Amino acid sequence: MSHAPLVARCPAKINLSLRVLGRREDGYHDLDTVFQAIDLWDELEIHPASELTLECDHLNVPTDSSNLVLRAAELLRARHEAGADGARIVLRKSIPPAAGLGGGSSNAAGALLLCSRFWELPVGEAELCALGGELGADVPFFFHGGRARGLGRGDRLTPLAFPGESHLLLGLPPFGLSTAEVFRRHAERLTPPANGVSLARPIGHKWPEGNNFSLAANDLESVVFDGWPELSSFRDALVEQGAEPALLSGSGSTVYGVFEGAADVDRVRDALGARFGHWTLLPSRTVPGSVRVNPLGRRGA
Ligand code: C5P
Repeated sequence: MSHAPLVARCPAKINLSLRVLGRREDGYHDLDTVFQAIDLWDELEIHPASELTLECDHLNVPTDSSNLVLRAAELLRARHEAGADGARIVLRKSIPPAAGLGGGSSNAAGALLLCSRFWELPVGEAELCALGGELGADVPFFFHGGRARGLGRGDRLTPLAFPGESHLLLGLPPFGLSTAEVFRRHAERLTPPANGVSLARPIGHKWPEGNNFSLAANDLESVVFDGWPELSSFRDALVEQGAEPALLSGSGSTVYGVFEGAADVDRVRDALGARFGHWTLLPSRTVPGSVRVNPLGRRGA
């Protein structure tokens, strides 16, 4: 077993597109989505310890076995007979929870990579992705990072070229949304009696090269904007300010806008700050990165 403290950096994601193709037998939905990693990172630190424990600096994040970090570590121990090995894991949150930014999923991917290195387990990328998929539909994306198309539950991934950074303004209302609840509301709309709503067609295969966002769409917007109209108002305000596009990320609650440059992002943050004073407005940008593990004290990629 390694005793050197290590740190994992775990990026957030947005969905550049999210089409819901239909309901599955296993309670999930088939998706055609385009994930994009962004420059907003959580950190996981791991130290030697006899027990497996988690600490976190965010009040709304549980540190018991409901946290995906501990579930990831426990899954790895169970599959690799590393049952006696403990670790003290410290999670530093920058990615807001329940925001559609994949923070919990990215933490799970980071924890799998971190613990496998720390305990020196022979785990390759394919196994990490498979274990990640058991923990959540979005988890495998974070091993690939950058930009990728996700089919199935979102876990059948095809890498897409990263065409260079785009500048983003993320808008977070003062509440999060439950992914399960948003999908449940969406499913109710599509349930008989037939209501004339037709299911979306896959479009990810047509996703254009470069930073052309003309195919950006999110099928969860209609239920989310109906249920939480403030999010729709924020989207409209971003469009008025020149965002191309402005879109809900995942199942929300984040609504983001894409802008030409960092100066536009700053201008729009200032312009919308007073009207959406109870929101958190975070500048960010798209990045090619994925989860990474380094010795503690070394930044690395
Ligand atoms: O996989 P994860 O735990 O992140 O998903 C949370 C919930 O979101 C699932 O239990 C399911 O209700 C819903 N979901 C879905 N279809 C997907 C992804 C998530 O219905 N492709």
